[in-house]
Order: sequence, then C-alpha cells, then structure tokens
Amino acid sequence: ALHRIPHPPYRLPLVGDVVGANRSTPLQDSLRYARRLGPIFRRNAFGKEFVFTWGADLVADLADESRFAKHVGLGVANLRPVAGDGLFTAYNHEPNWQLAHDVLAPGFSREAMAGYHPMMLAVAERLTEHWDRAAAAGRAVDVPGDMTRLTLETIARTGFGHDFESFERARPHPFVTSMVGTLTYAQRLNSVPAPLTPLLLRRAGRRNAADIDRLNHIVDEVVRIRRADGGGEGDLLDRMLETAHPGTGERLSAENVRRQVITFLVAGHETTSGALSFALHYLSREPEVAARARAEVDRVWGDTAAPGYEQVAKLRYVRRVLDESLRLWPTAPAFAREAREDTVLAGEHPMLRGAWTLVLTPMLHRDPETWGPDAERFDPDRFDAGAVRSRPPHTFKPFGTGARACIGRQFALHEATLVLGLLLRRYELRADPGYRLRVTERLTLMPEGLRLRPERRSAGR
Ligand code: HEM
Repeated sequence: ALHRIPHPPYRLPLVGDVVGANRSTPLQDSLRYARRLGPIFRRNAFGKEFVFTWGADLVADLADESRFAKHVGLGVANLRPVAGDGLFTAYNHEPNWQLAHDVLAPGFSREAMAGYHPMMLAVAERLTEHWDRAAAAGRAVDVPGDMTRLTLETIARTGFGHDFESFERARPHPFVTSMVGTLTYAQRLNSVPAPLTPLLLRRAGRRNAADIDRLNHIVDEVVRIRRADGGGEGDLLDRMLETAHPGTGERLSAENVRRQVITFLVAGHETTSGALSFALHYLSREPEVAARARAEVDRVWGDTAAPGYEQVAKLRYVRRVLDESLRLWPTAPAFAREAREDTVLAGEHPMLRGAWTLVLTPMLHRDPETWGPDAERFDPDRFDAGAVRSRPPHTFKPFGTGARACIGRQFALHEATLVLGLLLRRYELRADPGYRLRVTERLTLMPEGLRLRPERRSAGR
C-alpha cells in the first residue's frame, strides 16, 4: 500500500530520491521533505523505500506497544559493529537485552540518581573553573566542546569511576574523536548502496575499523582498572561486572560488558551534550527567558554553594527551557518502529509484520496541529503544567517510546538542569551577534560552531 504515501517528485532510476539531497545532513533534508509532503511520506535510496512518519495521530498509534516495537535499522543497525547487542543496539529478541535491562535499570532509580548527584556537581565545578578563566580573559568558549567535556566526564565518573581528564586536555579525548568518527561513518553508510560500500567508503571503512579498535581498547582499560581495584561503590560498571539477574541468576559475559560500556559512554554523553548546547544557544538569544530562568535559580537556590539533589527538580522553569530545546532539536532525532504482526497504521496504512517506519521527532514536535501556528518559535511556557495536560499523549518524544525508550532519561534531565542552573546563576551569556544556528548531524544533532562569551555576574555564585 506504499502507493498512497507521497514521495519527492524527481525520482531517478537506480539511485532514487537523491536530487537536492545532502549527504551530510540527511535529517534536515528529511525535515524539508516532511514540510512539503506531509505527515507520512517516503524516500527512495538506491531502490530501497524508507517511510517517514511524524503526524501526531500516526505517531500515537505507533506508540501502541501491543502492535509495534523498536526497529533496529538504518543508523542504529549501522552501529552494531561498535555496540553489538549492547542495550541500545540489541534486537528485541536478543536475550541480552532483557538481561542487561533488568541488571542495569536499578542504576537509574531515584536513589541511584541521588547518589550520582555530588559527582555531577563536582564535574560541573570543573566546567565553571574553566569558564571563569575565559570570563576573566574576556574570551569566548566553545560550547559544544565544553558540554561534551562535561557530559563525558559525568557519565565516566558516575558510571565507571573513571576520569578522562577532559578539562585538562586542549583537544577532545581520543574516545570522543573515535566516537564522532564511528557515528559519522554509521550515518554515511546510509548514503551509499550497500554493495558499493567497500568501493566508495574504503578509506573511511579503514578509519572506522581503527576507531572501533580504539574504542574497544579504551573501554577494556576502564574494565581492567576496575577489576584490578576490586570493585567500585555499586556504580553501573559494578552492576555490569558483579550483579546477577534477580530472577535467573545470570550475569553479563565479558564481551557483552564491553558492548555495554561503549554503549553507556556514548549514549550517556553525546545527546546530553547537544541538549545543553541548544539550550545555551536559546538562553543567549532570548534575554527574557534567560532572566526568568536566572531569577528562578536565585530564588530557589539562594547562594547555597552546593545545591542538593532535591533542589534540582525544583527548577521548574529551567527544566521547561530544556524541554523546549529538546522539542525543537531532539538530539536523538528519530526512532524506528516495526509492526509486530500484520496491522493497519492509524486505520489507513496497512503494514505487514516486520514492516517499519522512521519517526521524525523534530517534525512531530513542530506539528502546528499540536503546537499551534507558532510551532517554530522557542517558548518554554509550552511546558507549563496546564499546557502539558491539554496536549494529547505521545506528542513529545525526545526519549523515544515504550520498553526501548531511553533508560538514561532521568540521568540526562537531572544533569542538564543542574548544569543550566549553575551556569545561569554564575554568568551572563553573551551571544556572538553574527552567529546563525547551523546544525551538524552525526546521527545525533549538535549546534555547529556555537561560541558564547560568559561574563561573571557580580552577585552570582
Ligand atoms: C535510548 C534519547 C540520554 C542511554 C534512547 C532513545 C532515545 C534516546 C530517543 C530510543 C532510541 C530508539 O528507540 O531507537 C536520549 C536523549 C538524551 C539521552 C535525547 C539526552 C538528552 C541518555 C543517557 C544515557 C542514555 C544520559 C545513559 C546514561 C540510553 C540507552 C538506550 C537509550 C542505554 C537504549 C535503551 C534500550 O533500548 O533499552 N535514548 N538519550 N541516554 N538511551 Fe538515551
């Protein structure tokens, strides 16, 4: 029943819908098509048809877990050589998914989060020391670079007791460089027909193999150090290495631990770094929003040197700034859903068992039917309690949906709210007036080249 789904007009034999497509921005290309073609559409790449979905009623139907499930395809499947049957890339039927999910989920409980809080605060202080020096010298800071330093350190130290010394390095840690390499390669794989990959991406493929070796080497070292130290304090790595499944008594294998460590080090920092960067971009551009957020931090935190765990969730408006940033730029910008059995999507589009579609979250989040005619405008008040209650479910999905939704959601929200609070309280953020938002894609999204000039507030801590 594909014929009822619109596609771009200039369709070429063999290659498909490549006219006007840009290999380095596949997501933003799809957003452009979405605007022209409507809530469900398809693109053809080298003879393969891909269906994209973003209309609110279609996505709400896809969230029905009894009929649909996560599909491991496209970008996610391309990460299998790196992350194997780790939590993010595991097929639904792989036994290691349930095993690892059950063993690791308690590592994201409220209690566990409260335990990570002091370490998150300590890492954030490394960031403010770094920004204080820039402020004193009147220098601009590299926002995505610094947010990546922060979030990598946070997940590495809270989850794995490991220090990557990100703030001591002028250049990104080799883990980051290799990770960006493998994410970019996984995205590029979608832009060439599979049989031609060895030919077209030979050099890139070799570089990718070297990046994977480097990632493996780094995580093996993290595990080796932990084994030599004889255990941490019940962090994620301890769970991976020591905890047996509560029901079956089974443990993760050494190979699976390696996959999980890579998975959590990557998934645990890259998207949060982007979310913080977009939020800081908007805060620097919207003085009224920044003033309201800052006033909230001053009111709720006063000048407590070290805000406690409980004090972070009290920053309701700061959290709305973050939600609104994730609405416009959900940094993991798509997720795929497949039919468990033959079914009809939203009563209209027949799908055979295993058929799948990619949900375009940024478009779902900009659907005027849900968000109004000014959907493209940044406005955190869309997330005040009344507005949220008045919207249908499944219209805001930056963390995916169902059993395979993000396990690190609370971790990311706590970390990002804490850091935004600390930065707002301490600095005014001056934008470069010449900067226009450009978004780089490497499966995830990041504001490209964003620099801000932090200025110490005289009253701020
Ligand atoms: C899954 C987004 C932060 C670990 C996902 C999915 C999305 C997502 C959309 C579902 C993907 C799919 O359906 O294919 C985000 C965003 C984040 C964030 C936007 C930050 C703002 C984190 C953090 C961690 C994490 C901090 C770990 C500490 C994971 C894992 C999965 C996942 C392990 C796979 C879960 C499973 O399939 O069982 N994330 N994530 N994420 N995320 Fe996150």
